[in-house]
Amino acid sequence: MTTTGEYVFSPTWERETERLRTNEALWDPGTLERFDRLGVAPGWSCLEVGAGAGGAARWLADRVGPTGRVVAADLEVGRLAGLAGAGVEVLEHDLRTDELPAGEFDLVHARMLVQHLPDRAAAVARLTRALKPGGWLFLEDTDSLPLFRSAVSEDFLQDVRAAGYGLMRQSGHEPRGGHFDLRLMLAGPLVDVSAEGRVVVLRGGSDQARHYQLWLDFMRPRIVAAGLLPDSRIDEALAEMADPANWWISQVLISSYGRMPA
Ligand SMILES: C[S@@+](CC[C@H](N)C(=O)[O-])C[C@H]1O[C@@H](n2cnc3c(N)ncnc32)[C@H](O)[C@@H]1O
Repeated sequence: MTTTGEYVFSPTWERETERLRTNEALWDPGTLERFDRLGVAPGWSCLEVGAGAGGAARWLADRVGPTGRVVAADLEVGRLAGLAGAGVEVLEHDLRTDELPAGEFDLVHARMLVQHLPDRAAAVARLTRALKPGGWLFLEDTDSLPLFRSAVSEDFLQDVRAAGYGLMRQSGHEPRGGHFDLRLMLAGPLVDVSAEGRVVVLRGGSDQARHYQLWLDFMRPRIVAAGLLPDSRIDEALAEMADPANWWISQVLISSYGRMPA
């Protein structure tokens, strides 16, 4: 697979911005807490790669203030345009092929990006080279196996997970990406490498649940065309996701950290 997964990145899908915002509703609170724990402070220079709808970059700009610097890089920069007014430099960038400014950042962060790329080792090496001595690389990618586990039933939405993630995998997405980030970071020049994971427990019908409804709306024609599930089953699954009586867990989001030797 040589391209960024077409099932995962859908810049032309009319609801992609909404999908990225619901992703932030799920994951930003935990990511921002971790920025805080890493000590992000006024004057820091930060790079957010695969910046999506821009929530993390906006928070970083607010924290580092006018003496700091935040660069938000993405393949698709249209939805980041509003960040310029918030003191963020927006960079159109393809992590598969484009070099980043070397040795410039106290923090380089990428969430749910590396696991979608064909050459993850090259991507992690490129992100690492952007660090200043002593700077932190902070990568977040998922392990999707536990997605939808719940008290509802042993097999709650498992057919949908298997169908959707099976297709995503064929398109280049690594469903155990978070584990591989850690291995790649351990193999490079970084020190103080560690990792931990988090899940969000969410309720049907919430903004967070909406993220999975949007994912399934996007995947529906592909799942049906591949003969994996019928339309009627997708309708049923969407209704289960909309039902406030149902609670389930997200993927595990694995946060991996490592520091460039000072
Ligand atoms: C799954 S979204 C995650 C967005 C955001 N990091 C978040 O967690 O909310 C992946 C993001 O990476 C961007 N992207 C995809 N391929 C890329 C590449 N090769 N280089 C840079 N950005 C890329 C997409 O445009 C999208 O904004």
